[in-house]
Amino acid sequence: MSQGEKEILVSAQGPVGVLTLNRPKALNALNRPLMEQLVWGLEAFEADPAIRCVVVAGSQKAFAAGADIRELSSLKDGAEARSSLDAQLARWDRVAHCSKPTVAAVSGYALGGGLELALACDMIVASETAVFGQPEILIGVIPGAGGTQRLTRAVGKAMAMEMLLTARKLGAREALDLGLVNRVVPTESFLEEALRFAKEAADAAPLAVKAAREAVLQALESGLDAGIAQERTLFYGLFSTLDQKEGMKAFVEKRKPSFQGK
Ligand code: CAA
Repeated sequence: MSQGEKEILVSAQGPVGVLTLNRPKALNALNRPLMEQLVWGLEAFEADPAIRCVVVAGSQKAFAAGADIRELSSLKDGAEARSSLDAQLARWDRVAHCSKPTVAAVSGYALGGGLELALACDMIVASETAVFGQPEILIGVIPGAGGTQRLTRAVGKAMAMEMLLTARKLGAREALDLGLVNRVVPTESFLEEALRFAKEAADAAPLAVKAAREAVLQALESGLDAGIAQERTLFYGLFSTLDQKEGMKAFVEKRKPSFQGK
């Protein structure tokens, strides 16, 4: 792809921002320009009050076939890998720390850094033809963008070990059974389904969605007691918001609430 072409396409459907990975010839391999543009797009959506949820999508054929192996292949040793890749790999974490909910719309390959990108999102909508795997051991490395940690939390130790040590791939149904993805949808309409799904989070009370998300992410990072303490703090804090007043009042009055994110 020549310089100046867009590796990420940015669009919006109502309150849902969409970032579409766009390197079809390389099966959306995640090179530097692509990840840089992904973070720019994410930051623009974070700053836009009209956007309440972000979908990260690939094509029908590939969500992403991993980090760009061509970029990695010339690194001469560990020290060069660290100095060259630190900023690039931090972009996956930046996605995980997005201030708005994120949904990965995955069809076709989600391998290596591609699966790690999906795992960095809050939820995953998978097409029937999605394939998930961490095949890094086949090229002499391990996941470097959070996969060993996030995959283990998502599918548990036994299957994480199997996927990481044998490069075993999962189909969509298996990924659903293991709790890796939220739902499996027809391939032809995977993006529409992901948008519909994202809109459910986008339409809910924004501050409550934010707090729920923070609490879930906290559950992954801390012990049970600390997680519950954090949940309680967030829960009480929401009673100081207008949306809590409106949400509960609307319920009692049997009407649809109108949330303002305040
Ligand atoms: N990096 C760079 N280019 C890639 C790529 C990748 N990860 N995956 C695919 N491509 C390119 C291929 O080189 C090929 O380009 P050319 O046409 O210019 O040769 C094009 O995409 C199409 O790929 P294939 O011809 O290989 O397509 P296929 O249908 O035969 O196979 C595939 C598809 C099984 C996904 C295969 O491409 C493949 O195994 N890709 C690599 C998967 C992988 O190992 N991912 C992990 C990368 S390392 C990583 O991600 C580290 C990390 O944790 C951050």
